[in-house]
Amino acid sequence: MPGIVIVGAQWGDEGKGKIVDLLAEHAEMVMRFQGGNNAGHTIIRDGTKWAFHLIPSGILSPGILCAIGNGVVIDPKVLTGELDGLRARGIDVSGLRVSANAHVIMPYHMLLDHAGEVSLGKLQIGTTRRGIGPAYADKASRLGIRVQDLLDEKILKKKIVAAMEPKRLSLRPFAKSPELDLQRMTEDYVTYGHRIEQYIADTARLCWDVLDRDGTVVFEGAQATLLDIDHGTYPFVTSSNPVAGAACTGAGVGPKDISEVWGVAKAYATRVGAGPFPTEMDDELGDQLREAGGEYGTTTGRARRVGWIDLVGLRYAARINALDYLAITKLDVLSGLGELNVCTRYRGPGEATFDTYPYHQTVMHSASGEYERVPGWDEDISDVRDIADLPQAARDYLAFIADFVGVPVGMVGVGPGSDQIAWTDEGRASIAARTAAVA
Ligand code: IMP
Repeated sequence: MPGIVIVGAQWGDEGKGKIVDLLAEHAEMVMRFQGGNNAGHTIIRDGTKWAFHLIPSGILSPGILCAIGNGVVIDPKVLTGELDGLRARGIDVSGLRVSANAHVIMPYHMLLDHAGEVSLGKLQIGTTRRGIGPAYADKASRLGIRVQDLLDEKILKKKIVAAMEPKRLSLRPFAKSPELDLQRMTEDYVTYGHRIEQYIADTARLCWDVLDRDGTVVFEGAQATLLDIDHGTYPFVTSSNPVAGAACTGAGVGPKDISEVWGVAKAYATRVGAGPFPTEMDDELGDQLREAGGEYGTTTGRARRVGWIDLVGLRYAARINALDYLAITKLDVLSGLGELNVCTRYRGPGEATFDTYPYHQTVMHSASGEYERVPGWDEDISDVRDIADLPQAARDYLAFIADFVGVPVGMVGVGPGSDQIAWTDEGRASIAARTAAVA
C-alpha cells in the first residue's frame, strides 16, 4: 500500500514537479491534495518544457491516473485551458480525475483576492491573486461551490446567490463587472462543468482501490511547509495546509496509508511575496544567485527573493512532515559561488538566539540567520548521476544538511532536465523497493 507524499520543505518553488514526475514513473496514481493554480510546476522532459498549475505533473507518464483531490481549489477556466494545451501537444489526458468535492474558484474570489491585497497596502501578503484565499474562506464558511455543483444549473445559481450575498458590500466596486452577472456566471460555469464532466469522479475511492491492491500513489504537495496556514509564517502564508498530514484530508486517505514522505528543498532558499525570510541575501551575490537559478515565478513571473539555505527552517519542516528523505534540488546553481553560508541558528530581537523555529511572529520578523561558512566548489556537476561522483565539497555540503536536519538525502538535482538527478544509495534503494512491490 505505498502512499508517498512529496512536500515542499521551504517556501515553495523547490522543484517538487520534477521529483513527482520521477517518482510517478513507478506509481499508478498521482494525486494533488491542496492549493490551486497558485502553484506552478515546470518540468523539462527530453528538452521540452512543460508548465502545470493544476493538473498533476504525472500526466506526462502514460497510463497513470492523475487526480485533483477534494482538498484542491479549482479554477475551471485554468483547468480546461491546461487540458486544451495538453491535448494540442498530443498528450493523452484520459487518466485525469477531478474530485466532485473539490471547491471551485469563482470570479468573485479573484476580485476579492485582488481587492483584499490592495486594501492591505503596505501590509499586503503578495498573494498570487488567483482567488485562493477567498475560495478557501468560502469553503470554511460552507458557502463554497463544489465541482459537482457545476453539473446542475439550478443548484449552481442558488449557491452563487447564497455565496455572493454576504459579500455584497465588498463586491460593490465591481457591481458592473460583466463576470459577476448572475446569469452569465451560471452559464459559464455550467459550460465548464460539461467540459470536465467526463473527468469528475470520487477520487478518494479511486485512491483506495490503488492502495488496496498494493499500487503506489504519489501525493503531490503544492506550495510548502513554511507557507502552511497553521505552521508557516502566518499571515504571510497560503490558505491551505501544504504539510504532509494534509494529504490525508485533501485526498481522503488515513495516516496509515502513507508509507513515505519526501521533503523537497533547494540547495539554497527562495521566497515569493512578503513575509519573514531570515537568510535573505539582499546583495550582489543574491542577484547572481537569482540569475543563475532562473528565480522568476512560473505562475506570476515575479522575481523571487533569494537566500542561503536555512537549516533551522528545514529541521522544523523535517519534524512537522516526519520526513523520510530529502530531495535537494538545484545544487548545480551553487557551483562557482565560492564559500557558502549555511544557516544553523537565528538571531532575534535583543540579541537572543534561536536553535529551533520560533513560533512568535514578532521574533520571526526580526530574525536573521547565523551562519557556518563551508567550502564551495567550481566544477560543473550537471552530468553527475551518483552522489559519490560529486566534488568532495558538494558531498560535504549535503552531508552537513543531512546531519543537521536528521534526514538522509535521497536524491539531488544537478540541472533542469528530468534526468539530471544524482542518487544516493538510500534513495535508489527506496525506489528499487517500490518498483519491486509494484511488479
Ligand atoms: P496565495 O496562495 O495566492 O494566497 O498567496 C499566499 C502566499 O503564498 C504568497 O506569498 C504567495 O507568493 C505564496 N505562494 C502561493 N503559491 C505559491 C507557490 O506555488 N510557490 C511559491 N509561493 C507561493
